[in-house]
Amino acid sequence: MRDVAKRASVSTSTVSHVINSTRFVTPDLAERVRGTMAELGYQPNAVARSLRRKETLTLGMLVPDNANPFFAQMARAIEDICYEQGYSLIFSNSEGDAARELANADVLLSKRVDGLIFVAVGMGSQDLLPILESAAVVVVDRDLPGIDVDAVLVDNLSGGYQATEHLLNLGHRRIACITGPSETTPSADRVTGLREALRAAGLPVDESLIVRGDFQFASGFQGAQALLTRPDPPTAIFACNDLMAVGCIAAAAELGYRVPAELSIVGFDDTTLASYTTPPLTTVTQPISEVGRLATQLLIRRIQTPNSARERHVLPTGLVVRGSTAQASPRSRSRPVAQSSPQVRLQPAVNL
Ligand code: RIB
Repeated sequence: MRDVAKRASVSTSTVSHVINSTRFVTPDLAERVRGTMAELGYQPNAVARSLRRKETLTLGMLVPDNANPFFAQMARAIEDICYEQGYSLIFSNSEGDAARELANADVLLSKRVDGLIFVAVGMGSQDLLPILESAAVVVVDRDLPGIDVDAVLVDNLSGGYQATEHLLNLGHRRIACITGPSETTPSADRVTGLREALRAAGLPVDESLIVRGDFQFASGFQGAQALLTRPDPPTAIFACNDLMAVGCIAAAAELGYRVPAELSIVGFDDTTLASYTTPPLTTVTQPISEVGRLATQLLIRRIQTPNSARERHVLPTGLVVRGSTAQASPRSRSRPVAQSSPQVRLQPAVNL
């Protein structure tokens, strides 16, 4: 920096102000400094700057599954705000494992991220408290009941209710559900929405039609296989996220079910995937990018005003009806028995 200042005949503080935009510098002077930096191949040292200013202008984002388009779409909205505000983003993955979640959170904090956007593996634990108290943190998507922390969530219960009500309005009465991990608030609330919609319609909840999934394709496929090879299969399946709904569509095809003529399927998230399945997926839409934007703006405010009151935002969900749901119809054909692996192609049922 001293060499740049000397060559450009300015003070080192002027060079610093040009690099950090911390004070107005006339355009011609700024241009002279930047030209000198380029000539000398000078690269500001971000680590040294961070130590000096006790900030890194870096945010961390910790999610359970960075391969899921839901988190990828959210991360994109977050990175857009970071870019606008001069922050970098470090994206980390907990693989749905609580120990890895803690380890990765520690790594992000040791890299001195200024703040953390956090999607919890479960409903939080005492182990998380030191992390939540030692840094600016905004939890998104998955609530941490009882913990005072900024949160940007969506109305999952209403989403589950809308999905079920839509199927009831189509005449479905045997509605199955493939849940996400039961220890996550989104899955628990979506299933509560299903139960409340069935109860409001005066229908009993058949617990045997509620099967556990894990928000991954395979659990949707396997859950649908188990449900559709029962003697009394459901006529509709509400999958608690789009990936599992895609698994259901694949299982229905393997088992010779026509969607939606013989089986209706509803998902949750409305990721870009939902528009490109065959048939396109009816799903509960949640404002993924808006959650990301709002959480990032809230986190940057939290970094700047650490002691202001915590904020809690719950954004609405809606239903987008596409081609995977239709009027309930009586079962038209007997079904083959499901195979253990999705790779095995089932032979059509033959009446002997
Ligand atoms: O698809 C991933 C799921 O995990 C989404 O439904 C999102 O709400 C998160 O909870």
